[in-house]
Amino acid sequence: MSERVIPLVDQRIPTLNAPAAAFDPASRMAANGLLADRLGRPLRDLRISVTDRCNFRCNYCMPKDIFDKDYPYLPHSALLSFEEITRVARLFAAHGVRKIRLTGGEPLLRKNIEILIEQLAALRTVDGEPLDLTLTTNGSLLTRKAQALKDAGLRRITVSLDGLDDAVFRRMNDVDFPVADVLTGIEAAKAAGLGPIKINMVVKRGTNEHEILPMVRHFKGSGMVLRFIEYMDVGATNGWRMDEVLPSAEVVKLIQAEMPLVQLEPSAPGETAERWGFADAEGNHDAAAGEIGVISSVTHAFCGDCNRARLSTEGRLYLCLFATQGHDLRSLLRGNASDVDIISAIGHIWGARDDRYSELRAAQPPDTGNTPQRRVEMSYIGG
Ligand code: GTP
Ligand code: 5AD
Ligand code: SF4
Ligand code: SF4
Repeated sequence: MSERVIPLVDQRIPTLNAPAAAFDPASRMAANGLLADRLGRPLRDLRISVTDRCNFRCNYCMPKDIFDKDYPYLPHSALLSFEEITRVARLFAAHGVRKIRLTGGEPLLRKNIEILIEQLAALRTVDGEPLDLTLTTNGSLLTRKAQALKDAGLRRITVSLDGLDDAVFRRMNDVDFPVADVLTGIEAAKAAGLGPIKINMVVKRGTNEHEILPMVRHFKGSGMVLRFIEYMDVGATNGWRMDEVLPSAEVVKLIQAEMPLVQLEPSAPGETAERWGFADAEGNHDAAAGEIGVISSVTHAFCGDCNRARLSTEGRLYLCLFATQGHDLRSLLRGNASDVDIISAIGHIWGARDDRYSELRAAQPPDTGNTPQRRVEMSYIGG
């Protein structure tokens, strides 16, 4: 149960949402792929939430007592259509975006998602390359959908998995979903060629830390990259407490005691995860054994080179996972704004960005979750 008193308000109320930047034809901004925000950070990664619904109720994301049958999910008419999403994605690509991640809620619940993937797969970066097109899923529908996703043009996939023990897993998803079905889904994704597959495990102290070593042993040498995520104070409903965060340094130490690790270089600028490779007898990285990652947004913020923009299910652009305000792009899409208008709006919005919540958090008093400007939920904005 959450310890917080949750005010009975819809956190999507319009007053919390900023309009898209006004267009001043005199200051029209073109796209040249070189856009930078106020802290000099480029725009490279667009994460698109395609539904605010999920068939799981992970306590750290969609606690059951809040996300019940009376929760005001978005009506279908509010969602961006596939055509609207593809148009926005094309304009973001013109600004330098290279990676698109579909998220949710659970993105595989969105009907005919394969059609959207086909449309996105046809887009190109400013260098004329295909986008790094990926998707985060809870894996529950993967067995059925993996091949169709691959055929539609999805390049790779990330599966959330918080433990291997069936009882622990059922408790964490809180809908009694069996772990075996997710593991079968992961195998289906592998067989379909949706690699390199990443497995994301949110670690909550006192809930699933004893699953860390079994998970490492299971995925070591599988070609998949297991990543441990510090439980974050995202949204306003999960009753976050610092004492439930298991710092990544402790995760690494625990694994090191059984399987020596060597730190690896980042594979891309602005990456969320710190990479650790399994070491061989000489202390060098054993590539066949593979690597793990740790994502330390609580104990070691990585805002300094954050290049991620988030598009909510209903077309609001968020500049930070912890933002309280989104910029309404849907009204531009549904009004008579031209591509040039929208490109210009995106340019102005990103150009004014100075968000760095995780870096500032350490210096702030603990958040009660009941501040007047409530943070949006991760199921709405996308992980
Ligand atoms: P890859 O391209 O596969 O490396 O993906 P990624 O790590 O960029 O994205 P992914 O969605 O797999 O991120 C994993 C987790 O890291 C998310 O579920 C969040 O918990 C966390 N995360 C991702 N992006 C951010 C961010 O910008 N800020 C913070 N604080 N956490 C983030
Ligand atoms: N802390 C950390 N990660 C979270 N996610 C959702 N809520 C949280 C949270 N409170 C991320 C997890 C999950 C993905 C869908 O969203 O990585 O795998
Ligand atoms: Fe659903 Fe993923 Fe949130 Fe769990 S973490 S409730 S699977 S969106
Ligand atoms: Fe980026 Fe905000 Fe996450 Fe920092 S807290 S890394 S600025 S999304």
